[in-house]
Amino acid sequence: MTTTTTTSIAVLTRPDSADPTRPINDNATRPDSDIATLPDRIRRDPTAFRVLSGDRPTGPLHLGHYLGTLANRVRLQDAGVPVVVVIADYQVITDRSHPGPLRDRVRTLIAEYLAAGLDPDRTMIFAHSSVPALNQLMLPFLSLVTDAELHRNPTVKAESLAARRPLGGLLLTYPAHQAADILGTGGTVVPVGRDQLPHLELTRVIARRFNDRYGPVFDPPEALLTATPNLLGTDGAKMSKTRGNTIALGDTADRTAAIIRGAQTDSTRRITFEPATRPQVANLLSIIGELTGRDPRAVADDIGDGGAAELKRRAVEAVNETLAPLRIRRTELLAEPGYLDGVLLDGTARATALAGEVLDRVRRAMGMDYLG
Ligand code: TRP
Repeated sequence: MTTTTTTSIAVLTRPDSADPTRPINDNATRPDSDIATLPDRIRRDPTAFRVLSGDRPTGPLHLGHYLGTLANRVRLQDAGVPVVVVIADYQVITDRSHPGPLRDRVRTLIAEYLAAGLDPDRTMIFAHSSVPALNQLMLPFLSLVTDAELHRNPTVKAESLAARRPLGGLLLTYPAHQAADILGTGGTVVPVGRDQLPHLELTRVIARRFNDRYGPVFDPPEALLTATPNLLGTDGAKMSKTRGNTIALGDTADRTAAIIRGAQTDSTRRITFEPATRPQVANLLSIIGELTGRDPRAVADDIGDGGAAELKRRAVEAVNETLAPLRIRRTELLAEPGYLDGVLLDGTARATALAGEVLDRVRRAMGMDYLG
């Protein structure tokens, strides 16, 4: 894991397999290597971009979300980049049968966004299901991709396996759905972890194919490759809500301490940062490093023979100190559901206007506006 400083927009890494001379896909107009200059271009002219990102409202956010995406959105916003966050409610049913208690979950999500520092005046937060124009974009978009392309998508494959159920049509077409969110709201930059690159590739393919077929309407968005810390859960497995091995942003300080104290480590007393051979120890060091802006190796050196107990004590302190103001604000915001709903309604109205304009342009380009 790479550490981000609070001033950097995002830590950039090149995809392992990237050959800078090789186009990302067919019809490519932009070489891969541009991905490396994006943070600089954003820094120079933040308002020339629009960052699009989103979450499925499947439950409260945890430390992995905070360190992986949320803190980065706040940094981009604070650097002056317009940020759009889609609450991808329809995507909840890509891998389960019911959307769940959406009203409460969405309010919690908004409270967590705002508590973490997203500012509704600068960042547009909207609910996908309230912007029907986005779903209308799905139809022409689906005509531009083949079933083989959809089946090849590694995220679709992985999620389909994890869901332990037959691959549904919505999960299969989910990259096209996401393309509609991005292109329909004029997103030009999408922060992604390395494993999410193929997702965005499909959005770029759709944009280019649409332009080739119907004339220039879309600007293919660029991936802002973020070094998403690969955080493990407290049981050493991947951190995920479904495994229950996470530290939720809304957990109390006591519960956080209990979770971290119960985290698996190993029997070697001396603390060293060796992700390959000591993943659980490295994970706690990474969390401390991320939260304190320090190199996890230096943290390990400081702890030395202090052992797992000292490592955990520092992890508890780092997490609770960082999250304390956020937790207070989160609780205050949750007490004001009317305000939270207002934030969402306002963002949704703005997204509706944007998506309506895009859909008009799409229908015009296709001759679908024949009735006016
Ligand atoms: N697929 C994303 C997730 O599960 C959420 C999402 C929906 C999204 N639409 C998007 C992210 C558009 C970026 C851009 O977390």
